[in-house]
Amino acid sequence: PRTVALIVAAGQGRRAGGETPKQFRIVAGKPVIVHAVERLAALVDAIHLVVGADQEGEVRRLLSERQIASFTMGADSRRGSVRAGLEAIAQSGGADIVLIHDAARPFLPREVVGRLLTALDEAAGAIPVLPVADTLVRGSDGAMGGTVDRAELHRVQTPQAFRFAAILDAHRAWNDAEEATDDAQILRRSGHDVILVQGDERLAKLTFPEDFSRAEAMLPRSTR
Ligand code: CTP
Ligand code: MG
Repeated sequence: PRTVALIVAAGQGRRAGGETPKQFRIVAGKPVIVHAVERLAALVDAIHLVVGADQEGEVRRLLSERQIASFTMGADSRRGSVRAGLEAIAQSGGADIVLIHDAARPFLPREVVGRLLTALDEAAGAIPVLPVADTLVRGSDGAMGGTVDRAELHRVQTPQAFRFAAILDAHRAWNDAEEATDDAQILRRSGHDVILVQGDERLAKLTFPEDFSRAEAMLPRSTR
C-alpha cells in the first residue's frame, strides 16, 4: 500500500513560549521539525507538510525540496491544518494509508509505527496511547470533586494512522463550527472503529517550556 505522512507544523506554540515557534527550536543539534521529518522519511513513501503562512520560507530552507511532496498553508486550528493537508494529498494522487503527525514530537520509535500499521488491517484508524499514572479527580474553585477511574483513560499521542479515504471523508463531513483536537475523534464520528495500540514516552509532545530539556536529554541517547 502507498503510505504517506502528513506532518502539521502550522501552530504558534503559545504554551511553550519563547521567541521561536517550538517546531523550529533546536533540540539535540537540529530543529524539532527536522527530527520529525527525518524519522518519518525512513518509514513512508512521501511526506506532506502543513506550515504557517509566515513559516514556509524557513521550512523550505531547513528541508530540501526532495524530502517534501507538498507544502500546504495551515489554518487557525489544528483540525483545519490537517484538513488542508489531507486535501493536498488527495490532489497529489491520494494514498492508501496516512500517518498524521505533530511536528512538535521530535522522536518517533519505529516499533510504534509498526504497531499502528498492523492494527490498520482490522480497522480504519489506529492511535498510540499511554496509561495515566496519577490519580485523577474532578475539582472546581480549589475544591475536590469525585475521583475519575483512570483505568479506562489514556493519553493520546501521534502519529495516528488512518486509511486515507476514510479520514478524508470524515474530515469533509465534520461540522466546522465544532473543534476537535484529535483526528481519531473525527474518524469515530463518521462511524469507524479506532484501535488503541501501545504508545511510547519518547513520543511525548513538546508543549511547555520545561519539555525541551527533557527532549534534549532523551534524544541523543535514544538515537545512538
Ligand atoms: N498545529 C497546526 N495548525 C494549528 C495548530 C497546531 O498545524 N493551527 C500543529 C502544531 O504545529 C503542532 C501540532 O499541531 O505540531 C500539535 O499542536 P499543539 O501542540 O497545540 O501546537 P501549537 O498549537 O503550536 O501550540 P499551542 O497550542 O501551545 O499554541
Ligand atoms: Mg495548539
